[in-house]
Amino acid sequence: MCGIVAYIGPEKAGPILFDTLKRLEYRGYDSAGVAIRSDGEIQVLKSAGRIGDLEKVYVGMGMPGDTVGIGHTRWATHGKPSDKNAHPFISGDIAIVHNGIIENYLELRDLLTQAGFEFKSETDSEVLAHLIKMYYHGDLADAVTKAINRVEGSYAVAVVSASSPYLVCARKDSPLVLGIGKDANYVASDVAALLPYTRDIVRMKDGEIVLLYGSKEIEIRDLSGITQTFQTEKIDWNIDAAERGGYPHFMLKEIHEQPRALQETFAGRISEIDGDVQLDLGRTNEEIESLERVSIIACGTSYHAGLLGKYLIPRAAGLPVDVEVASEFQHIQLRPRTLVLGITQSGETADTMISLKKSKTCGVGRLAITNVVGSTVTGLVDGTIYTRCGPEIGVAATKTFTGQLAALFLLAIRLGRARNHLTPDQGRKMLVELTRLPGLVQSVLDKREEIRKVAEEYAGAGCYFFIGRDFLYPIALEGALKMKEIAYIPSEGYAGGELKHGPLALITEKTPVVAMATCGRKIQSNIKEVRARGADVIAFATEGDPDIDKVASTVIELPRTRPVYSAVLCTVGVQLLAYYTAAKLGLPIDKPRNLAKCVTVE
Ligand code: F6R
Repeated sequence: MCGIVAYIGPEKAGPILFDTLKRLEYRGYDSAGVAIRSDGEIQVLKSAGRIGDLEKVYVGMGMPGDTVGIGHTRWATHGKPSDKNAHPFISGDIAIVHNGIIENYLELRDLLTQAGFEFKSETDSEVLAHLIKMYYHGDLADAVTKAINRVEGSYAVAVVSASSPYLVCARKDSPLVLGIGKDANYVASDVAALLPYTRDIVRMKDGEIVLLYGSKEIEIRDLSGITQTFQTEKIDWNIDAAERGGYPHFMLKEIHEQPRALQETFAGRISEIDGDVQLDLGRTNEEIESLERVSIIACGTSYHAGLLGKYLIPRAAGLPVDVEVASEFQHIQLRPRTLVLGITQSGETADTMISLKKSKTCGVGRLAITNVVGSTVTGLVDGTIYTRCGPEIGVAATKTFTGQLAALFLLAIRLGRARNHLTPDQGRKMLVELTRLPGLVQSVLDKREEIRKVAEEYAGAGCYFFIGRDFLYPIALEGALKMKEIAYIPSEGYAGGELKHGPLALITEKTPVVAMATCGRKIQSNIKEVRARGADVIAFATEGDPDIDKVASTVIELPRTRPVYSAVLCTVGVQLLAYYTAAKLGLPIDKPRNLAKCVTVE
């Protein structure tokens, strides 16, 4: 996610803003900027690239500005990484930095354009600067309150004005903390930025607006202007722990970010009224109707996401799907009415890029699902669906995988609606249930202690099996991959029905079997098969399932949802299982041996 910092106090703001921004560099960013009050004006300095380079420019200018300012590191979600899309955004004597997604930005952009405001970027955030300016008549807190009452979506925002004695910040669904210094106040999206300055922090709540003055004084109000009480918390984490948000590893932090990441993937794309989805697919409904096939190419975890597409898209959109590991992709067989879909969280994986380039020679339509705005893959395709999960630091893909699944759900519904394979009512029902998914994922995360105990019990296993059927077969493969890559335990992922065709020979009382059991009853026969060979079975099953206790040795209950969406819930379960196994074994979870986050060689 992007990073926000702000400062108001007795010291020069610039050096503090650059220092706090550098403390957010570990999260990844593509551009950075600051807005500092200077001789009764707001001076903005921003560019694509490194914070250190921007700081050199600031120092070269003689370190202008006084004691109030805001700063930002951007990780692009709307509009590519560039100088003009970098934050802060300025409107007259007001500057803002923003994290989150303004879902109704197109409507607000039209309104503000008609009111005479000129837009200089491709971002959704810039509407906030102009909206606040439109409402600003000397009371900055009032202007921010009025502006955010017009906004749909998520935000953490910090606002500075040349003429206001205080800074303002506000949040909804995007983190923001206040740092209370000796005689200064700080703001950051992440505690790690503030630790050298203060350990007294206040975690802002959704719907709060804060006024920060240049002394210790702060005032917190709700959206109707009523003053709120607040509690200060003392942070005793060291800097390393703070970067991980207090989690022992980035992987665990990123697993816990999944409800929020899913919300971002859905934000502004779902129309429950129409039972449809808005996506940039780079083609008309007529072109979608004339499609004959979807060919998915991807590697590793992204390939497992693609496999789920193979079960999903034919049912939702009536289109056959084949899925190929990118390094084995045979483009020669492609027919013209095929849509080639590349799935890649990094957008840079060499095998996937090469296959997409080859597919161009066949004159097919091309689409990408990726997490990285402006990555190489986006230049090779006609349309891109961004997963908007924020940067992922742990080498093992977690939140980017569930983001890919979420993007595939949206794509399947869009294709289904465009091809009249789904009625508006069917689309609506699927979407209503889909919007519950972030909350359901949170309930799985709340079972982490139960999953940790199971993981620790079996951490000494020499071999693991993961089994699933239908939508859950790809998740069995993904569970096995996670266990291999971070816990170094040889693990097999199998379709339940395949066990008796060979792998049963490996099953003994020393082989724990993880069964994804939320989709159909046939998996119970497979559970019985392995139980009969002495294996313990850990089943992820739907709560209230009357039979599963009779067959599995351990049952982890997941909330009830559509079978296809339960794939996401099972995913979170197997991620936690692999994570706690590796943690018990004391392994370097965020950087497993021999693996890299982005594989840019064939
Ligand atoms: C496993 C993992 C890898 C990647 C694969 C493709 O946890 O992360 O298997 O999924 O290297 O990477 P992307 O999605 O960047 O193309």
